[in-house]
Amino acid sequence: MARQNKKIFISYSDKDKEFALQLANDLRLEEVNIWIAKLDIAAGEKWDRAIEEALKFCKDFLVILSPNSINSDNVRDEIDFAVQEKKRIFPVLHKKCEIPFRLRRIEYSDFTSDYDSGLKHLLKAIKSAVLEKLPDKDIDFIGREDEIKRVHEGLKSDYNIITIDGMGGIGKTSLALEVAHECLAASQNPTFVNNDVQKFEAFIWTSAKDRELTINDVLDTIARTLEYPLLTRLPLEEKRHEVVKHLQEKRCLLIVDNFETVTDDAVRDFILKLPEPNNVKCLITNRVQNLEKAWTVSLRGMTEDEALLLIKNEGDRLGINLDALVADERNFQHFYDATGGAPLA
Ligand SMILES: Nc1ncnc2c1ncn2[C@@H]1O[C@H](COP(=O)(O)OP(=O)(O)OP(=O)(O)O)[C@@H](O)[C@H]1O
Ligand SMILES: [Mg+2]
Repeated sequence: MARQNKKIFISYSDKDKEFALQLANDLRLEEVNIWIAKLDIAAGEKWDRAIEEALKFCKDFLVILSPNSINSDNVRDEIDFAVQEKKRIFPVLHKKCEIPFRLRRIEYSDFTSDYDSGLKHLLKAIKSAVLEKLPDKDIDFIGREDEIKRVHEGLKSDYNIITIDGMGGIGKTSLALEVAHECLAASQNPTFVNNDVQKFEAFIWTSAKDRELTINDVLDTIARTLEYPLLTRLPLEEKRHEVVKHLQEKRCLLIVDNFETVTDDAVRDFILKLPEPNNVKCLITNRVQNLEKAWTVSLRGMTEDEALLLIKNEGDRLGINLDALVADERNFQHFYDATGGAPLA
């Protein structure tokens, strides 16, 4: 089934249109699904409106960098929008110029000296891009070094299921997200070599935190993350079959958050009985221990040092001075004992 929404929007200055069109043609020859204003806006269509819609619709964004484009307000706006919408961005350096600040951390394909090697680099980047729909990390993660290590070890082991368990608010989701982002950063960096951190081609996040999580939801989330959104329309059994097929094509990390609230037995079955070859590692957060045959990391309260740092950070974040609480050792001890070191408290 063809990938939908999988288009790459090409942003360029009209003054570079010759290069842009050549690149567009070459990408199409390689079956890369692109959208470019010059070819894809029909006669009579409103130019601005068409560009705006395409920009919204396309999942990925390619920008042709040159002195012309970095001085174009339109290209600048398009870059801002792509960054804001967290699109996957492929910078293409057409002519030497100062790379816009927001793009500096992204690896670019250099076409300035040799077109063919630039194209080769770009195609590799496009075809190997990691698929992911992870929530952002919105906290300053503290401590838990041993636990992080243990989760990484689980991901490296022969176990397909790794569970993080512990009571509510102890920090299971935060830990899972921290580890997943470490793996993501490694996966996105081709030069990164560290055998202790696993790389994946896709990161799928499902959560039963605020809602009932059915097998249908899990399958839909997988289909969307792997960029087969049309599969979500299929009847359940057919959907399951197709999703499993695509799951086997890639090395995936599937995260199921708050497994303890999952009541649909089919979810459990799906995770436990993924057919071979099983490229999927499943990372589960769970308040209870109800999964056998899993690599288990149990979370307890934070250490006193970690708790101290957390309190300080929280105080800073909320703009309150919590020094009084932690300055008096007896006071802090009392607080620490009462909360058992649970970060939520
Ligand atoms: N290592 C950490 N560093 C900083 N903050 C943390 C850490 N662990 C947890 N927290 C904070 O504590 C709160 C609770 O953590 P989290 O949501 O991860 O708990 P949980 O075990 O997943 O809870 P639940 O069982 O309710 O899902 C969050 O607001 C998070 O920001
Ligand atoms: Mg949680």
